[in-house]
Amino acid sequence: MIGRRTFMTRGAAGAALASGLAAPAGRALGRQGDLVFPTGAFQIRRARIATPAGDVMVTYRFWRALPYVADPVDARHQSLNVCVPVEINNVAIDAGAAPILLATAMGGYAPISVADADGVSAGRMALNARLGLAAGLVVVEPGLRGRTLVDRNGVHYGVAPAAIVDLKAAVRYLRANAGRVPGNVERIVSAGSSAGGAVSALLGASGDSPLYARHLAELGAADASDAIFAAGAWCPITDLENADGAYEWCWGANPLEDGRRVDPALSAELAAGFAAYQAGLGLPAPDGSGPLTADSYGRWLVGALLRPAATARLAAMSEIERAAYLFRNPTIGWGDGGAAFDWPGFVAHIGTRLKPAPAFDALDLSSIENALFGRGTTKARHFTPFSLRLATGDGAARLDPDLAETLRLMNPMPFLAEAHPGRARHWWIRNGAADTHTSHSVAGNLAAMAARNGDRVTYRIYWDAGHVANEDAGAFIDWIRALPG
Ligand code: DHB
Repeated sequence: MIGRRTFMTRGAAGAALASGLAAPAGRALGRQGDLVFPTGAFQIRRARIATPAGDVMVTYRFWRALPYVADPVDARHQSLNVCVPVEINNVAIDAGAAPILLATAMGGYAPISVADADGVSAGRMALNARLGLAAGLVVVEPGLRGRTLVDRNGVHYGVAPAAIVDLKAAVRYLRANAGRVPGNVERIVSAGSSAGGAVSALLGASGDSPLYARHLAELGAADASDAIFAAGAWCPITDLENADGAYEWCWGANPLEDGRRVDPALSAELAAGFAAYQAGLGLPAPDGSGPLTADSYGRWLVGALLRPAATARLAAMSEIERAAYLFRNPTIGWGDGGAAFDWPGFVAHIGTRLKPAPAFDALDLSSIENALFGRGTTKARHFTPFSLRLATGDGAARLDPDLAETLRLMNPMPFLAEAHPGRARHWWIRNGAADTHTSHSVAGNLAAMAARNGDRVTYRIYWDAGHVANEDAGAFIDWIRALPG
């Protein structure tokens, strides 16, 4: 049956926003026959999938481009693909009760269409999707609207919060089709990297929040829960309205890749904003080392994440390789069987920064995020008072009033901060150490918030790895299979 579980948020902002929504009724299945999963309308596909345990031949049922909302704005993007394994190495399997891996290929907050896919995708989360299929999971790949979509009237219809509304609608479609769609809809695990990691984390944090009800109703989303069981986020580019300060705290000491330096006064001012923000979160470090502040944060990352990652990498080298590595990387030391460095040494080891200052709310409106927060026929906007005022020279300038709600709908942190009841209770968070697309505190805060809420968190940083690294995909699939029932 299709149950509607709604949770009220406890935050004042959430209550204020929620009270403005008329709690529109979703579409009941039956009336909305077009949202019934077409059980028999699959094709058979075969794939040879390389796994950590060797090649696996998978035969699977493939459903293509199923629209997941009754009133799509853009069906090409608002549809999903389903892959259900039926034979693994020529042995029949029944994935009817398997976990469902919801793997989004979104990157750069750009749109994703799965309409032309000819099987399990080659997108950003392809490795997870392929390994999931080879392990007997149901794999669902959703299309999503993204920031670059423009209609013939010049309206940017994929800007925030379109992607998260679509992703929630996809979950509702699956849950409304419990018993029809193969797999256990109570065990939906999302995965994504970068912008995809951001929407995956947001999906996990915000399950069944009434703040999205109006948007979901407009699309004719199925009347079902959008809560998920677990969320996987690789290098999530999120907490965007706080990301400029965080970036300067993390990478402020480094020059740009072309050697230029950002304005040190501007960097310091932004970093001071991060210190205030971080203090306000009142977050304990998950390892019990004390509160996570701008002062202590680097010590926690080094002690709990970076040093263990570096140690594992360096320990696996021959002595000659290690000596060469240490020679090339003078801020990294080795002693007592472990890597030795502090936070400034780590930042110097990475050596550069990818983005100018401010990194996300760019003064010239050129960033991905400026466009993410476009609206109507306006392609890109400021979304922080800091950049708005600096760019316009008007110290009293105010953000467009719609942005407060839009930012709220795009950020997992307030949901986690209020221990939102509909949140996922299992979190897989990963990041490349050398990824300077955002601050390490962004993934770190997600992990620390989830841990503080008492949820199960696995958080690792891959040593010397860059953006969108996924070095333990096999372990991710094992983790999904071992999640408690
Ligand atoms: C992505 C990368 C970015 O640097 C960013 O600001 C947003 C998204 C991405 O790779 O998805």
